[in-house]
Amino acid sequence: MGAPADLSLRVVQWQRQHGRNSLPWQHTRDPYRVWLSEIMLQQTQVGTVQDYYERFLARFPDLATLAGAELDDVLGLWSGLGYYSRARNLHRCAQVIRDRFGGEFPKTAASLQTLPGIGRSTAAAIASFCFGERTAILDGNVKRVLTRVLGFDADLSKAANERALWTLAEGLLPLDRLEQNMPRYTQGLMDLGSAVCLSRKPLCDVCPLADQCVARSERRPEAYPVKTRKLKRSAESVWLLWAQNHEGAVWLERRPTPGIWAGLFCMPVFPCQRSLAAVVPMQHHDALNPQAVKVHSLTHKDLHLHPVKLNMADELLETGDGGAWFSPARWPELGLPAPVRNLLAPLRD
Ligand code: ADE
Repeated sequence: MGAPADLSLRVVQWQRQHGRNSLPWQHTRDPYRVWLSEIMLQQTQVGTVQDYYERFLARFPDLATLAGAELDDVLGLWSGLGYYSRARNLHRCAQVIRDRFGGEFPKTAASLQTLPGIGRSTAAAIASFCFGERTAILDGNVKRVLTRVLGFDADLSKAANERALWTLAEGLLPLDRLEQNMPRYTQGLMDLGSAVCLSRKPLCDVCPLADQCVARSERRPEAYPVKTRKLKRSAESVWLLWAQNHEGAVWLERRPTPGIWAGLFCMPVFPCQRSLAAVVPMQHHDALNPQAVKVHSLTHKDLHLHPVKLNMADELLETGDGGAWFSPARWPELGLPAPVRNLLAPLRD
């Protein structure tokens, strides 16, 4: 399994000509912007992130503004992006940088990695994009590119094998002109992974590494990466009490922490239909109206949402703390999870 000597050069040249070069978080070495984009991109597609990124920056243009903001406002702007622990960590991270680093981002991957929400690959992305550090990224896409080109067939479910791949990734990094080459190389691997080295039916004909790719020479690129312990998906059902008054206002309350949609506003959530019915006054039971089940897929599980609609007057529901009637005009300012926003969308239009 020889490491192709000019791999990094080829990736850099390919990125310059064929990679993505006009994303809103490129052409800056401001670690605040790069960090924000990398956190948003961790579990969300580029196309979705772009608008959120611009809106977030307009509201929180720098680290000091974000660190001084209310968590609620941060969650509100994150609403719809999902994986809200990212927003909570982002806010906490900004405060740690303000309080312990004098408001300046640390300048090495090793120290960036000590911050909330920044793992090894994200730390390396920030350090290479902003500071030209010679440090390797290894997210899901890049694992695919590197295991294929190297023919690395050890099982990545085992930590020792994953460590070995990190070491190999470090051995492939550019050796010179790091200020220019590291950002391009890092972006190039990401771009290859997302546009060329696809998990199924990779586009080997346009790959700059095709002639040195072991997986391709074996005619089985799709056999890589090897991971025997597959992510086990589970399913969870939740019942949502969708209480609506005559003016179209909906009863919403803040979700407790920890738990599903912690800190966001939502209709009251119940683990089963019986517990939902238990909070509804008897005189309304006949009017409970189950809606079609909606499935919302997360990384590890499918959430089966069972909305139960109920038209009622402006009564108070005994469902938890801080619930209230919110008219459609106020929903945008609340942090509503995307599936809840989607359920409610027809009411706003
Ligand atoms: N995914 C993670 N980081 C990215 C970046 N900088 N550009 C495009 N996709 C990414």
